[in-house]
Amino acid sequence: MKKIGGILLGFIILSGCSKKIKATHHHNHNSHQHVHYASESNIPAHKLIFPSKTPDRIIVSLTEDPNHSFAINWRTSQEIDTAYVQIAKETHGPDFLLDNSMQQIIATTEFIQVENIRDHEPLVNAAYHSAIVKNLIPNTTYVYRVGDGGKNDDTWSEWFQLTTPSTNQNEPFSFIYFGDAQNDVKSMWSRVIRKSYKMMPEVDFMLHAGDLINHSESDREWGEWFYAGSFIHATVPSIMTPGNHEYDKSVNRTKLSSLWRPQFTLPENGPLDELKETCYTLDYQNMKLISIDAQSFNNSERSRKAQTKWLDSVLANNHKKWITLTMHYPIFSTAKGRDNKELRESLKPLIDKYNVDLVLQGHDHTYARGYASNEGLGKTIVKDAGAVYAVSVSGPKMYESQDQDWMVKRGEYVQLFQIITVENDTIHYNSYTTKGNVYDSFSLIKDENGNKELINNASEVNIRLKKDFKKGR
Ligand SMILES: [Fe+2]
Repeated sequence: MKKIGGILLGFIILSGCSKKIKATHHHNHNSHQHVHYASESNIPAHKLIFPSKTPDRIIVSLTEDPNHSFAINWRTSQEIDTAYVQIAKETHGPDFLLDNSMQQIIATTEFIQVENIRDHEPLVNAAYHSAIVKNLIPNTTYVYRVGDGGKNDDTWSEWFQLTTPSTNQNEPFSFIYFGDAQNDVKSMWSRVIRKSYKMMPEVDFMLHAGDLINHSESDREWGEWFYAGSFIHATVPSIMTPGNHEYDKSVNRTKLSSLWRPQFTLPENGPLDELKETCYTLDYQNMKLISIDAQSFNNSERSRKAQTKWLDSVLANNHKKWITLTMHYPIFSTAKGRDNKELRESLKPLIDKYNVDLVLQGHDHTYARGYASNEGLGKTIVKDAGAVYAVSVSGPKMYESQDQDWMVKRGEYVQLFQIITVENDTIHYNSYTTKGNVYDSFSLIKDENGNKELINNASEVNIRLKKDFKKGR
């Protein structure tokens, strides 16, 4: 452990090792010439694809103990084989640079080589760095930067600020839930995440319900996702659950993207080694958050059994007032003909048994929100509605849906984000269009005995259907 200052004691140096991992999948032609990126500058997406000595793709994520720690990942060229995080308490001006409170933490570095033949992308050699900053003080704002440890600011990121959550369970907090970004992420998803941040800059974390990109091995697409979120990814912690598109199509979606684990740091407390950072749980103030790896669930009986048994034990041991589940494939699909029967038959009994509150999903490229016993009645106030299920979409790819009994509100051809505010006894859920208007809204009130009341609130935007937006209208 390296102790630089006297005030912020005990940051953990997680690891100082560099390991080289070769993740080349489609190794053919004379690819090893492609390491000199300057000579590749004729590639249009050059800036999105190739790393430099300056950190890019910087992202913070929630750990199992968000009160006292956060995780950071970033990328550079392989010229940087040792990298650092510097962190200090926020100050009114540049004074955090002057006192002795700053800590420097060495990162874990992996060398990754990716060549995405499917999309004719060039070979990319990059260094992926990660660190978990520990022993933080709850409800405190820190500034941090990542870089090579040198004196030149050019090889450091800018200073970002980030706030740890309160240990007061009753303190309200907010998170933003996004359905699939997936396509045209730089061009068309950027305005969604940026609008969400503009509407809720104090948001505590963001949750991505899978299919962040389209082709799991596309370095350019991952570059677009990081570009679209830009400094928001480095400022607001994220969690994400993988979708089918985070699994490699060339091997029947049986292998997680080779970039998922290098570029994100997510909890490793799932039931199998292969589910590390894809199926996990963490507590955020008075809410238990659970990610189910729905693609892995579909892939094998082994995963299905392991995740179901694990979810049962996580929920049986839960002491948090609120429970939110996220998974990519929906328990109830928005379109007839799309159905995840095994997922529903395995998990819905547990969702009901343990009184889960929110199930946040993606995949269907439409919007729907409701509850199992709705029966198409659309009542304003519902006693004991059980779990509220939502399917949402944030990117521009749009499908059609059909009206079904479980739905309170549905929609098509609309890019949405959901701001969810959690209070001691109430969850406020608002789904916003990219213009910032309320598309769907409800409140969920829970008493000390776990009895719930669902209040369906009025929205500002009427139902949108894809057929109403035909070209040439
Ligand atoms: Fe999907």
